[in-house]
Amino acid sequence: MPRKTNDNYPTPHSLVEKLVEKYIDAVGIPDHVWEPCVGDGRIPRKLLKCGVAVSQTDIQLGQDFFAFKKAIAPVIITNPPFKHIRPFIDHAFDIGVKSMALICGERLWACKRGREQFERHKPHIFAMMDWREDYLGKGGAPDRSLAVSIWRTPCAVDSSFQIWSNKYLPANTNPS
Ligand SMILES: C[S@@+](CC[C@H](N)C(=O)[O-])C[C@H]1O[C@@H](n2cnc3c(N)ncnc32)[C@H](O)[C@@H]1O
Repeated sequence: MPRKTNDNYPTPHSLVEKLVEKYIDAVGIPDHVWEPCVGDGRIPRKLLKCGVAVSQTDIQLGQDFFAFKKAIAPVIITNPPFKHIRPFIDHAFDIGVKSMALICGERLWACKRGREQFERHKPHIFAMMDWREDYLGKGGAPDRSLAVSIWRTPCAVDSSFQIWSNKYLPANTNPS
């Protein structure tokens, strides 16, 4: 199946909920978040419910993340295009992002380039899920899982590995 233009794969709602709740647990409620790959706005909708101000941009709105020379807000929470995720992480911290939560692939750090980037920008939390969603829309049981990396600062001293549970939120719940 060909990849969608701009890697336009919306985050499953169950993971949007977890992503924002776990970021707030780990770092606190931010004043202002930037969602630079906003898609249909599902992450901002959750943030707004938590009382957080959000700036929203996307290449589909003519705003290429890599063209920004200065961060719009000190915090990014997003699911970026996976085909550009390594330059995305470097660029975010280069332009002044202080803290970030990203949906990422489960194997993001598990290769030579991953290990090198991990040394530069070690996340405080790397989390995998105890459930899987068919986020690529292939049908059947998904063979790979989404994960999350959370940075309180651009490089942690130590990382913690977590497994998040979905047991209080049915996988197909759409809270909007
Ligand atoms: C995996 S989707 C996720 C959308 C949304 N963040 C979510 O959680 O559902 C990736 C998004 O990144 C956007 N995108 C891809 N390349 C981009 C770029 N260079 N700059 C800004 N947005 C980009 C796509 O248009 C798409 O909306």
